[in-house]
Amino acid sequence: MKLIGGETLREKTFFVTTPIYYPNGKPHIGSVYTTLLADFLARFNRLLGRETFFLTGTDEHGLKLYRAAQKAGKQPKEYVDEMSQYFKDAWSKLNIEYDRFIRTTDPDHEETVKYVVERIYENGYIYPGKYSGWYCVSCETYYDEEELIKEGDKYLCPIHRKPVEFMEEETHFFKLSTFKNEILKLINNGLVQPEKYAKGLLARLQNLQDISMTRTKDRVPWGIEFPVDKRFTVYVWFDALVNYISGIGYPHDMGKFNKFWPAIHIIGKDILWFHAVVWPAMLLAAGIKHPKKILVHGFWTVEGVKMGKSLGNVIYYDDLLRYHPDVVRYYLLKNGPVDKDGNFSWNELKEVYKNELSNEIGNLVRRVTLFAKKNYPTIDGELDEDLMNELKNHIDKAKTSIEKFVPSQYTVAALSIFKTINRYFTEKEPWKTNDKNAVYNSLASIEIGALVLYPVMPEISRKILESIGVDLTPLLEYQKKTFTIKDSPILFPKLG
Ligand code: MSP
Repeated sequence: MKLIGGETLREKTFFVTTPIYYPNGKPHIGSVYTTLLADFLARFNRLLGRETFFLTGTDEHGLKLYRAAQKAGKQPKEYVDEMSQYFKDAWSKLNIEYDRFIRTTDPDHEETVKYVVERIYENGYIYPGKYSGWYCVSCETYYDEEELIKEGDKYLCPIHRKPVEFMEEETHFFKLSTFKNEILKLINNGLVQPEKYAKGLLARLQNLQDISMTRTKDRVPWGIEFPVDKRFTVYVWFDALVNYISGIGYPHDMGKFNKFWPAIHIIGKDILWFHAVVWPAMLLAAGIKHPKKILVHGFWTVEGVKMGKSLGNVIYYDDLLRYHPDVVRYYLLKNGPVDKDGNFSWNELKEVYKNELSNEIGNLVRRVTLFAKKNYPTIDGELDEDLMNELKNHIDKAKTSIEKFVPSQYTVAALSIFKTINRYFTEKEPWKTNDKNAVYNSLASIEIGALVLYPVMPEISRKILESIGVDLTPLLEYQKKTFTIKDSPILFPKLG
């Protein structure tokens, strides 16, 4: 029986990326959310049988990391070696399954950056000049005066609200302005999703300036040497963006690169300009195809308040791990901010745990497996078409939510499957009627529900499948099987 329409599989490969994170602190809910979205999409695509590559990593060069290392009294490399480990640990604890963790200090990445810069230079898109302007070290970016916040005699960064520094130096410019029309076209053709985020770009694109792409070694020694003029290092954003192609083999393994490129990039709204404007222009300048999509999400607030170090309300990944990682995943995907900002609340998380996970999913799996184990430990039967059609309807909604990039609707669809089974099992009353086929269908539906749940809750999904004696199989086609009940798991124990 078909669960998902065949047209979905026209594309055989799927390549998804996260931003590479600055390893100057532990991952927080923001970086957790971006990474979780990528993992969720990667798992869904693997479940469809697509060959999938999921790339994440750390952005280790530049002034911000250089100063953070100095502050910690360490050499930059020693510092980033230590700090990037936090990200690897966090991802493994949150059931994030990436294919490569790239670090911008990896030798193959450094070579690719030099190679790409050389191509852009040969193609005539780099020229020397002088730059002066206001620089925010936390953003690693220059701002125009009118973008800054004025406080007394100081200028503050509009994102970090920290003083910006005035810098004046010899540099090399990248001819970003040359690509204005091509970038406009890409954006008008839906490069950025949700579309509302693209609006802000269009105004800024009208007055597109060339950008400085090198730093003097005196000021920023911690970076990749600019191959055209060795007195400079490559600007950290230029270095970082290249990870999306170095990470899948460009230009060392073109077989792999051609198989997966172009990518789907997942990012937070604060770094849209670099991804939707600077990055496609760099690729065009180097003669490489533009990205397939840029999926953007909003920001988390915490208990209704903007999150920030100075406010002391940052939620770090290990705070979240008070709950089972899959519970965290479910809650974040359900409440996550995609088209607008979203709010994190411990109380809401507790409610979701009780009302949705424990009452709907946990209780159902426990109830059905306990009953089946006692009465029909090995069980076979015929699929109930009405029930299957109802499930298919929920699966369609789950699939649409992925296409439209509305992860919260995916969790709603997954939960609806379990609600449907709950209703079915209760209505059929097999404990009164001895309706063996109803028990069989409840188990088959639990299997399907667990498959749909897999991208959100991979560990819980496997536990459910194991309890009814089946393996994780692709979601496309449902193969009828015999169930042998192994266990009646308590998936979501009562909170202490
Ligand atoms: N190093 C750059 C990205 C280079 S990609 C070529 C960078 N790193 S970061 O560590 O600052 O990235 C943080 C990620 O977390 C971004 O996607 C950002 O949008 C996201 N968030 C940071 N704070 C956030 C919230 N409060 N809420 C949601 N996401 C937020 O930028």
